[in-house]
Amino acid sequence: MTAIFLPCAGGTEALLADEAARIAGHAADAGRGGVWVEGDERTAMALNLESRLAQRVLWPIAEGPYRDEHDLYDLALRVRWDEWITPQQTLRVDTSAVRSPLKSLNFAALRIKDAVCDAMRESAGARPSVDTHRPDLPLALFVGPEHATLYVDLSGEALFKRGWRDAQGEAPLKETLAAAMLAAAGWQGREEDGPLFDPCCGAGTIAIEAAQLARGIAAGGQRRFTFERLLPFKPHMAAWREMQAAAKARAHAARVPVFAGDVSFRMTDFATRNAERAGVAGALEFKTADALQRLPPAERGTLMLNPPYGERVGAKGQGSQGFEGGATPAEFFSALAAHWKHHYAGWSAWVLSPEMRLPSLMRLKESRRVPLWNGPIECRLFRFDMVAGSNKEA
Ligand SMILES: C[S@@+](CC[C@H](N)C(=O)[O-])C[C@H]1O[C@@H](n2cnc3c(N)ncnc32)[C@H](O)[C@@H]1O
Repeated sequence: MTAIFLPCAGGTEALLADEAARIAGHAADAGRGGVWVEGDERTAMALNLESRLAQRVLWPIAEGPYRDEHDLYDLALRVRWDEWITPQQTLRVDTSAVRSPLKSLNFAALRIKDAVCDAMRESAGARPSVDTHRPDLPLALFVGPEHATLYVDLSGEALFKRGWRDAQGEAPLKETLAAAMLAAAGWQGREEDGPLFDPCCGAGTIAIEAAQLARGIAAGGQRRFTFERLLPFKPHMAAWREMQAAAKARAHAARVPVFAGDVSFRMTDFATRNAERAGVAGALEFKTADALQRLPPAERGTLMLNPPYGERVGAKGQGSQGFEGGATPAEFFSALAAHWKHHYAGWSAWVLSPEMRLPSLMRLKESRRVPLWNGPIECRLFRFDMVAGSNKEA
């Protein structure tokens, strides 16, 4: 068994620990910025295929104390690299550091690469070459103040790249963050979870993640992973094909409807194409509409959105509900709250925003406030419960 490490966005560690435990079949440990879960090659393959929240799946291969680049070289020299790749294959080394005494992380990466090449020349008679674009063996080196860990990145491309995104839109959420919003809300696409609605859907990320959950589609079912090219995984390829086939066979008709919309036709068009590629076109209903005017698509359900943010927000700058040139955040959120209070009684709304004053702008008291990081931007996922008739003023 190996302590597999799954890095994730800040704030999503506990959610990922739950998900990893479900996939691995036993408890996982949440740390800062990631989760550790014990497992073997099968566990690593299942995590790549099924995790919606992990950024990658990292397999530790060497670790120990270090003071300088020579120690890192010695650390990497101890690995039997010829058991991982052939000399015809390629590698890349990425480094990240927390309070490391090293002066140059590039030089540290270079020394790891030298160690792999020297060890391979010694044992296999030839050295692999570097490919920064699509390496067969991507290595991730983490250096702390005194301790270094070298991982093999079994995913390759980051896991938020599910393989279905064609059109981006302006400010798309990462698929992993959209999935974390759904997980934080406890929305799993089961019948009892009820309909889901994103009225500001952009390229459709939240709605597509939700529709895949509602259909039981695996997050990684449409992409490849680096472990498929690595020697230790070759004996497991038959099991891997079976795992992929079982995940495909598990998909079912959507158990709950998912609705989405955007004021911009360009965005609903992008989102529709993305949904087709993600295999959920039939499970999703898109409509080009103004969130400030659109009526509920179902009697009750969950609103989930990351609304526009910035100086001027709102309907394409052409004025929604009379806002000339787009609304200010105060105008937009107050109009959105008024619309919801009037028409969305019985719904709960989960809103991801870097705007910490959101509850006061909406004159609503949040019932939950979950810190989440959208890349470098600190956000909160606010939950508002829309109660019939009256609403608690903030
Ligand atoms: C931050 S983006 C959402 C990104 C989306 N979650 C994604 O992953 O692509 C906000 C979206 O709100 C849309 N929008 C702005 N004003 C709107 C309004 N009044 N009604 C509906 N959508 C609106 C914008 O067109 C934009 O696509």
